[in-house]
Amino acid sequence: MALPRFSLSAELAVGTAVVGAAFATGVFLGRGGSWWLPTSRQEQRRRLLPSEDDPLWQYLLSRSMREHPALRSLRKLTLEQPQGDSMMTCEQAQLLANLARLIKAQKALDIGSFTGYTALSLALALPATGQVVACERDAAPTELGRRFWREAGEEQKIDLRLRPALQTLDELLAGGAAGTFDVAVIDADKENCSTYYERCLKLVRSGGIIAISKVLWNGEVLQVTEGAAECVRDLNERILRDSRVHISLLPLGDGLTLAFKI
Ligand SMILES: C[S@@+](CC[C@H](N)C(=O)[O-])C[C@H]1O[C@@H](n2cnc3c(N)ncnc32)[C@H](O)[C@@H]1O
Ligand SMILES: *[C@@H]1O[C@H](CO)[C@@H](O)[C@H](O)[C@H]1NC(C)=O
Repeated sequence: MALPRFSLSAELAVGTAVVGAAFATGVFLGRGGSWWLPTSRQEQRRRLLPSEDDPLWQYLLSRSMREHPALRSLRKLTLEQPQGDSMMTCEQAQLLANLARLIKAQKALDIGSFTGYTALSLALALPATGQVVACERDAAPTELGRRFWREAGEEQKIDLRLRPALQTLDELLAGGAAGTFDVAVIDADKENCSTYYERCLKLVRSGGIIAISKVLWNGEVLQVTEGAAECVRDLNERILRDSRVHISLLPLGDGLTLAFKI
């Protein structure tokens, strides 16, 4: 297995102050090999992209990922958990972080945070005064992830709300937060995804971005007419006709829709 230049323990010993310099000199960049590999279950999914052990895909990741050491440790630990591969893929999270930087985001909303990989990726992209409101109903994965939020020096930016996401979104709206978020990421239960989308359209400012993950649902959007697949397909139809947003659907992970609020 080709490992990146730094061993995990050496990376963890490096203070965040040198991270920027380390990126610049390339010491955190991977060198190909199998360290991006997800679990075998993920490889069996119907994907538009090459399988993740494809050498060309490995090349793409190894020449584009600049994963913060804490993010990388969090990803590795998350992949060891049950449902660990439900985490956003690293290149998706990096894209969202870059989009957040591009629009100079201050406030982000993360719906379905799990161990907080995406939340931490966004937090790292926000200024010191930035905030990520992280919605999660299950405390256990967030307790696992918090150590890495702290390690990255980003814990204070992540405002974890441990309750059903819909409740948090309605509390935010009731508290006058409409139009104050720059980015929202929807990656929780699919049964409620259309509801989350509508709430996000209210919470996100004009010019802001709403990302919805797993919108190809393992290819099942093509035929399955019940359950999560149907909910995802309904949302895909709704967004296609929604004149309030510009859209792109990227074949990353299990499909990532980006809706740009007009
Ligand atoms: C696909 S995972 C999220 C992965 C995460 N975005 C990441 O990048 O690692 C979905 C998460 O949504 C949470 N979830 C499901 N339904 C929820 C709800 N109604 N309210 C809040 N969280 C919910 C689950 O507990 C799970 O942790
Ligand atoms: C959808 O939202 C409702 C209202 O908060 C909640 O009761 C239900 O559990 C959610 N569905 C899932 C699958 O989380």
